[in-house]
Amino acid sequence: MLEGKHIVVGVCGGIAAYKVADLVSKLCQAGALVDVVLTEHAEQFVSALTFSALSQRPVYTNLWEPTGEAAARHIALGQAADLLLIAPATANTIARLAHGLADDMLTTVALAITAPLLIAPAMESQMYQHPATQANLRLLAERGATIIAPESGRLASGEVGQGRLPETPTLLAQIRWTLGRATGDLVGRRVVVTAGGTREPIDPVRYIGNHSSGLMGFALAEEARDRGAETLVIAGAVSAPMPPGVEVIRVETTLELRDATLAALADADALVMAAAVADYRVEHPAAHKIKKGSAEENGDGSLTLRLTQNPDILAEAQALAEANGLTGLTRVGFAAETHDVERNAAAKLRRKGLHLLVANDVSQPASGFGVSTNQVSLFYADGRVERLPLLPKTEVARIIWDRLAPLLSERSADKVKR
Ligand code: PMT
Repeated sequence: MLEGKHIVVGVCGGIAAYKVADLVSKLCQAGALVDVVLTEHAEQFVSALTFSALSQRPVYTNLWEPTGEAAARHIALGQAADLLLIAPATANTIARLAHGLADDMLTTVALAITAPLLIAPAMESQMYQHPATQANLRLLAERGATIIAPESGRLASGEVGQGRLPETPTLLAQIRWTLGRATGDLVGRRVVVTAGGTREPIDPVRYIGNHSSGLMGFALAEEARDRGAETLVIAGAVSAPMPPGVEVIRVETTLELRDATLAALADADALVMAAAVADYRVEHPAAHKIKKGSAEENGDGSLTLRLTQNPDILAEAQALAEANGLTGLTRVGFAAETHDVERNAAAKLRRKGLHLLVANDVSQPASGFGVSTNQVSLFYADGRVERLPLLPKTEVARIIWDRLAPLLSERSADKVKR
């Protein structure tokens, strides 16, 4: 995603300027070409040498450098860039950008650029909340800039409030997401990803659940988002943080997950069910907390819970797609298996009418529930099987979308022909 992208990073004079050195380093490690433009005041906080050592490129500070090339450097930078990020953006630079001033290299590049503009304000909270700053940010947003809201926490003054520059992973996610919306191979697609585990109530305080953290589903959602898809995540119980930049619907039980999923399918191009779904629910959950010795107990002190089968959401999605002529809906299931992985996976693929089934052997400690890695095999509807090594879930997600993106195009073309 970042490989070969040309990113211009504008740094202003704020204490958070030091954090941007880490961001530039991460962007370069990911294969991006990074040009850094420092304002005069930024140089008071971090030197040009720091950034040129990290980017392995010259750093731009002076609009008036007396060389023939320098005269049009701001135009050249503006034309070459795939994205301009200004971080930290101070109140002063935000005001200059809002009013179209071009009195230094950074504001001049900002006027010359046609690529997406990301602005990450960072300052004391009074300055950030000031009506002038807010009006300037609104103006910039109306003109198409994306404003990355500052986080709350301890500020340079020692006060606590909103004004901190978000950490590198948040800035990187925003950059990937913005680039994906412009050039990703899933632009124009709507995808639905389910994540996490369902919980089936026993009584108001207890439930039957599973160990899904949401990591696999969120990795799939983030990858789809970064490739430009409009992404809906339907999330059950999770311990991983919610991915930014995607629409989220929270559910608890399998029935809630079923309703939310089926309702989202009418305009979806793909459904990817990474959620760990309870096959059974308690037939009659107790209205009050079950206590020892209560009427729910059997005479011998034991307790019997009668379970009833939940609907199979993927099978219902297939039936709905067939009934409503949703021929362009690509359906992907996961299979969490502890034994006979391949035989069970092939059977699930057929039974649930899927285009792709991702089988994970959850009997291995580093694969499946609650860990950041997964070992999966991809079972295709035409009988092919692709066995992948143990990989980070983010990498598994990338490979899955690599395989799905052409399939989605084929199926949409097919839909148009009919
Ligand atoms: O969240 P993590 O900690 O990252 O863990 C990831 C994971 C192990 C949960 C994930 O990789 C995974 O395997 N998800 C599917 C788990 C599961 O429910 O497997 P299953 O074999 O029981 O179901 C097969 C498929 O049918 C799944 O896509 C499931 O979402 C779907 N299903 C299951 C039951 C049901 N009633 N309706 C369904 O649609």
